[in-house]
Amino acid sequence: MNSQHAQRKNEHISLAEKFHKENSMADFDKIRFIHQSLPEISVKDVSMQTKLGNISLPCPFYIEAMTGGSKLAGELNEKLARIANKCNLAIASGSESIAIKDASTVQSFANLRKFNPNGIIIANMGASHSVNNAKKAIEIINADAIEIHVNTVQEIVMPEGNRNFKWLDNIKNIVEAVNIPVIVKEVGFGMDKSTIQQLKNIGVEYINISGRGGTNFVQIENFRREHKELNYLDSWGQSTVESLLEAYQYRNDLNIIASGGIKNALDIVKCIALGAKAVGVAGPILHSVLKNGETDTIEMIQEWQQGIVKIMTILGCTSLSDLRNKKLILSTDMLNYIHQRNIE
Ligand code: FNR
Repeated sequence: MNSQHAQRKNEHISLAEKFHKENSMADFDKIRFIHQSLPEISVKDVSMQTKLGNISLPCPFYIEAMTGGSKLAGELNEKLARIANKCNLAIASGSESIAIKDASTVQSFANLRKFNPNGIIIANMGASHSVNNAKKAIEIINADAIEIHVNTVQEIVMPEGNRNFKWLDNIKNIVEAVNIPVIVKEVGFGMDKSTIQQLKNIGVEYINISGRGGTNFVQIENFRREHKELNYLDSWGQSTVESLLEAYQYRNDLNIIASGGIKNALDIVKCIALGAKAVGVAGPILHSVLKNGETDTIEMIQEWQQGIVKIMTILGCTSLSDLRNKKLILSTDMLNYIHQRNIE
């Protein structure tokens, strides 16, 4: 294994854990539901099933892209895959670009399929990769979908990072060449409606707005070196709630996915009410596995799954489409955001 790459992957894991915060900054506290005392349904009437294209997910949240490419990352992927399998959750791989350059790292990714043979698994690659590399990434884990990550802010704060961000043609080629869902995904800086429109124009149907408020790659990349670049960008981007407001007008035409700063079942329910079809969780699951281990993480996820059903019950929603029709009350901050951004 290329030791520099492996070290970077290990540092991402340890630094995401170092900066993990229990409180989300993703603005979920700025939206709330109205309580009604007579929902007139029973817990057993509630289904939290969702669909991403032809892929049915029994549960609307999944383990979001994190790792692979080092011994530690391979062990972590093994644990995450077992957790996904046990909890019936989809799981996304960390960026597989290392596996394209260094064949000795392939197994650290393939563990996702080995320990979760029948689950829904999502491949992951950067947006500068060729169609062939995207196909290889899919093949390595026999993926059901692929995420193409767009991470300009993360790259620009890294001295050795990418400086060419002409990605649209490349993404279009991948969308046209691959016959499974292609999800274009941010990495925690959020999206705006013009980005979503640009992606829609080239045929993208699945977009993960991955907003600000959870794992922060300006903080993580800068901590890795003495000379900090653009440290002041550590609050750059749209929060997850702001990004979902940006995406709101597209919720029926595109499959909008949320991630970034999700801390509990209520945050997930709020994402769905704001139009998301599914919700990715990275940092909190990593934190739980590292701090409390596999068994406690399975328990935490099962509690979240029960929590979603319980919250849907008190809201009187038997399905996620019922939930999408629930009105939310927004704080003045969020109303101001909507006003300035001309969001309908
Ligand atoms: C990530 N994330 C990420 N995303 C991606 O598309 N490819 C990747 O390789 C990685 N690597 C990665 C490593 C680690 C350790 C973490 C914690 C995260 C970003 C991740 O998928 C997600 O978009 C953000 O972390 C925001 O979600 P959370 O962490 O706030 O739930």
